[in-house]
Amino acid sequence: MKQSAYNARRAPRVAIDGPAGAGKSTVAKRLAERLGFLHVDTGAIYRTVALAAHRAGYAWDDEPNVARVAEALVAERRIAMEKAENGSAMRIVLDGQDVSPFIRTPEMSAGASRVSAIAAVRKALLALQRQAGESGGCVLEGRDIGTVVFPDAEVKLFLTATVAERAKRRFDELVGKGVHTTLDATLTDLVARDKADTERPVAPLKQAEDAILVDSTDRDVDAVIEEMVRVVNARAR
Ligand code: DC
Repeated sequence: MKQSAYNARRAPRVAIDGPAGAGKSTVAKRLAERLGFLHVDTGAIYRTVALAAHRAGYAWDDEPNVARVAEALVAERRIAMEKAENGSAMRIVLDGQDVSPFIRTPEMSAGASRVSAIAAVRKALLALQRQAGESGGCVLEGRDIGTVVFPDAEVKLFLTATVAERAKRRFDELVGKGVHTTLDATLTDLVARDKADTERPVAPLKQAEDAILVDSTDRDVDAVIEEMVRVVNARAR
């Protein structure tokens, strides 16, 4: 089904929120391809702020300077999401450089978790995320899409899985990328990120009241996608 199936009005915005390691990126990407929608990975934006702060020589808990970095990136249009040549994927560009390969490291995961807890950083990035999704026909993944970025999104999904399953998936993914780590370390890291994401005072990770809970534990990606396509069709057409 392509975007044209929604031609009478704006195509829906599909929000997918959920904890780290629930499979959001894979699922959001595949769902976007299936619907002919754009995939907007908002975690990549926070990761890019962490990278930019690091490159500027600031510690991630240096709130005033990290906030200034985020504000400057947006004001000076030094951060952009561009549609890749083919497919529905977006790549993230910092100062003219495609930084997609540099933001997916455990170091930048930790950095993104820290910088995303800074209220001024979240505020600076809000308009950027809204621009990316305003025309509809997109699948936006993050932590606060259905609660803060697009509280009026036509479709809201909350994707989760048990912490053990999420740690295993994250571990397999890191090993696949050649990162040296252990399952225990990955689990500890994930529990810390869950705590930081759900307990931060600004825009904490939580399921929106009108979001549909999708549990991906013990289910393959295809089954999860089928369920989501059914929800999108039922809610948005
Ligand atoms: O989804 P991810 O692992 O790429 O996200 C990286 C970090 O950014 C994660 O610790 C939570 C944060 N994040 C956020 O606070 N709000 C979003 N909308 C997306 C990500």
